[in-house]
Amino acid sequence: MTPPPAPWWQAGVLYQIYPRSFADSNADGVGDLPGITEHLDHLAWLGIDGIWLSPVTVSPNADWGYDVSDFCAVAPEFGSLDDVDRLIAQAGERGIRVLMDIVPNHTSDQHPWFLDSRSSPASSHRDWYVWADPKPDGSPPNNWVSSFGGPAWTQDGLNGQYFLHNHLSEQPDLNWWNDAVRDTFDGIFAFWADRGVAGFRIDVCNIIIKDAELRDNPPATEDDDFEAQMFGQRSVYNANRPEVHEVLRRWRRLADRYDEPRLLIGETPVPVDQLVEYYGDGHDELQLAFNFNFISAPLAAAEMRAIVEETEAALPSGAWPAWTGSNHDMFRFPTRWAGDDPQRARLALLMLLSLRGTPVLYQGDEIGMGNTTLAREDLRDPLGVRFYPYYEGRDAGRTPMQWRDGPGGGFTDPAVRPWLPLGDTATANVEAQRDDPTSMLTLARDLIAFRRRHPGFCTGSYRSVPVPDGVWAWERGERHLVVLNLSGSEATLEGLVGTVQVCTDRRRDLEAVESSLRVGPYDGIILERS
Ligand code: GLC
Repeated sequence: MTPPPAPWWQAGVLYQIYPRSFADSNADGVGDLPGITEHLDHLAWLGIDGIWLSPVTVSPNADWGYDVSDFCAVAPEFGSLDDVDRLIAQAGERGIRVLMDIVPNHTSDQHPWFLDSRSSPASSHRDWYVWADPKPDGSPPNNWVSSFGGPAWTQDGLNGQYFLHNHLSEQPDLNWWNDAVRDTFDGIFAFWADRGVAGFRIDVCNIIIKDAELRDNPPATEDDDFEAQMFGQRSVYNANRPEVHEVLRRWRRLADRYDEPRLLIGETPVPVDQLVEYYGDGHDELQLAFNFNFISAPLAAAEMRAIVEETEAALPSGAWPAWTGSNHDMFRFPTRWAGDDPQRARLALLMLLSLRGTPVLYQGDEIGMGNTTLAREDLRDPLGVRFYPYYEGRDAGRTPMQWRDGPGGGFTDPAVRPWLPLGDTATANVEAQRDDPTSMLTLARDLIAFRRRHPGFCTGSYRSVPVPDGVWAWERGERHLVVLNLSGSEATLEGLVGTVQVCTDRRRDLEAVESSLRVGPYDGIILERS
């Protein structure tokens, strides 16, 4: 029996769009849906199979779209539902699927559900959120802290009860023990999926269920990870509860009802042993889960390899990893991994596009955009505004896409002030790199095209190969070997015969290898063995 064909997203490349910063079609300084539609040719030319849009739904923007006040309507600054339909249709004509971001853990405090919930303990939406009485001394119901700092509870004037918020107090957490909440989200899922949305990235997927008894988190110890020690507690009861898997199985059933099953990608910032649980049995929960252990690792052979191999070994059979280097929260990999060294950024790109799994690029990765340092007065992320100068927030990775050099950067009208300042458009922009055979953009496009030409390379297994320190190499499929030299000195691998397919040093593409493969410092090579 021939195996069923691989789903589109397994061999495909996904691309995250942060709509506010992608392309501004109406010169108001804010990116929008028509701007995305106008730039679909760039994505098709690059070879992208699916785009994930950070939220375009209505929001007061306390957390830039991640505080939703209407899950089924488009924020006016981004356009309209018609614009979504046009985007889906025009992307579809180019073979590109559109995924939405869904934020089930919390809403905006301006959402009508919360306004009603807050209005009276007897309101029909009271139990849609997590309300609890103070302790006898008036302090919050338990010791949970918000991942954005401070207590996770805010007291309401009405009757002294506290409501829970794992992020800003403007983002009250929904109560996922309530069946009405579950049913309502089934409807939201269908609302978008029925319009042709190909799937969802699920925001803070690991925290939506909280301990039903609201027990105190245990204190962190010196053996805990950085975050637990910073917060002084382990997130045992306000996150990562086992019952979240019931919700994910429910969504997977919804996703699988469509002729083309909808794709669920979770934001899952958890250790590898927990991450793999979000795949369920490999077929009944998420199809993809973001691996923050990988994102946060240094770009070094031993560390990266350890995480990839731990993940590969722990995944249930049939499960498929996702690899990403940048997103709107974690900054840009050309800076974070590569220290703004273009050569190392190219190496990281080759790594992302060569591992077994779905690569998820973030807008600008393809031109090697790094972080932009912003002045205090330009910060817009509530975390930067609150914690500067101790933490500058996430804006450095959210500045507008750099389409060309000069004022406006092709993102907006040159006379318009964009919502966040542009980065260095001279160093990285699409226009200058497009026809340059040595550019990061050309490398990205060529690597994606190489994947497409070699389905076995995309879907084949990952088999690690012994190599000298500082080097990491693996076989893909039948014939390909990927070699990354993550060190500053040249390395040589003996006993190899074949042809270089793609090298980060493009002068070596198609070089014949007759017995030993030389790999320059911070170079990466895909070799086809003969
Ligand atoms: C996710 C989003 C982030 C947001 C947070 C709260 O982590 O990626 O941008 O601030 O959820 O919604």
